[in-house]
Amino acid sequence: MDKTHLVDEITGHRRMRRNRKADWTRRLVQENRLTVDDLIWPIFIVPGTGIVDPIAAMPGVNRMSIDKAVEAVKEAADLGIPAIATFPDIEMELRDETGSNSLLANNLINQATSAFKKAVPNIGIITDVALDPFTSHGHDGIMRDGIIVNDETVDQIVRAAVMQADAGADIIAPSEMMDGRIGAIRRGLDASGHQDVGIMSYATKFSSGFYGPYREAINTSGLLKGDKNSYYISPANGTEAVRDAALDVEEGADMLMVKPGIAYLDICWRIKEAFGLPVFAYQVSGEYTQIKAAAMNGWIDGDRVMMETLLCFKRAGCDGILSYFAVDVAKKLAKG
Ligand code: PBG
Repeated sequence: MDKTHLVDEITGHRRMRRNRKADWTRRLVQENRLTVDDLIWPIFIVPGTGIVDPIAAMPGVNRMSIDKAVEAVKEAADLGIPAIATFPDIEMELRDETGSNSLLANNLINQATSAFKKAVPNIGIITDVALDPFTSHGHDGIMRDGIIVNDETVDQIVRAAVMQADAGADIIAPSEMMDGRIGAIRRGLDASGHQDVGIMSYATKFSSGFYGPYREAINTSGLLKGDKNSYYISPANGTEAVRDAALDVEEGADMLMVKPGIAYLDICWRIKEAFGLPVFAYQVSGEYTQIKAAAMNGWIDGDRVMMETLLCFKRAGCDGILSYFAVDVAKKLAKG
C-alpha cells in the first residue's frame, strides 16, 4: 500500500494544485482583478453629423461625429467607464506644416470636449496634444528642414493644451515625446488657472509597428514621411524608458502611461516599482486588431483573450488600461 511515486520525492508536501482545485479556492487566492474602474476608452471623432464610420483595420471600432459620439460616451458612462481619450480625424485641407488647427479654440477636438462635458458631465475627458492629427506630414511635432524641432513644438503644444483645458479637458495626455513638455505644460496650465487639470504623460512611448491601424483611423498613414525614431523610444531600450519617465515625474506628471501595452509589460512593472505613480498601459490599435482578426478567423476565443490581456496589465502593475475593447469589457463585467 505504501507506494512511493517519484513525484512525491520531488514535491514532498508542496503541492501547488491544492489552491487551484475548485472554483472557490481559485477565487479566494486570486491576486488581481479587472473592474470597470480600470478602463479608459479611446474614441475617434470626425466632423459632420450622424456619422458612424467603420475603421477597416479595426473591426468594431468607428469614427463618430460629435452627436453620435455623445450617445456612445453616454453609454460608456452608464456602464461605469471612468474616462475617455479622444482623437480627431480632421479634414485633409485643415492639415498643414505646423499643425495650426491644434491652436483653434473651436477645433474638432475642443468642440467634442465641450459637447461631452455638457451632455455627460460624469465621465473624465483625456485629450492628446500631439500634432500628428493636424500636420500635413503626419509627424507629432513641427518639422523644419526634415527635423522635428523640439522647443518650438513644446511652445505650441502648451498653447494647445491650455485651449483643451479651456474647453473642459480634465487630463492632458501629451503623446509626442518632446523633451521638457511635461514641465512646460504644467506651467502653462497653472498660469492659466487650470491647476486642477492633470497630466497623464505618455512617458514611455515606443517607436512601434503596433500603431498601424490608428494611422489609418486618423488618416495619417498616407502622409507620414519617414519614421518617428528620432522622438519615440526604441523597443530595444528599457533603462532609457525608465529614465525618460523619471524626467516626466520630476517635471510634474500626475500619471504615467506605457505604450504599446502587451509587448511592454516589463516597462509597466519597472515604472510602477520605480515611481509609485498611477501607471496606465495603452493597448494600442495593432494589439486590438491582432485579437479581433484572429477571433474573426475562429483561431482564438476573442472574448477570452480580450479579458486575459487586460487582466495581465493589472498583474504587471497597471492601475488601468486604455483599450478599444473598453465598452465590450464593461458589458461583459456587468454580466458577471
Ligand atoms: C501619435 C499617436 C499614436 C497613437 C496615438 N497617438 C502613435 C502614432 O501614430 O505614431 C497610437 C494609438 C494606437 O495605435 O491605438 N501621437
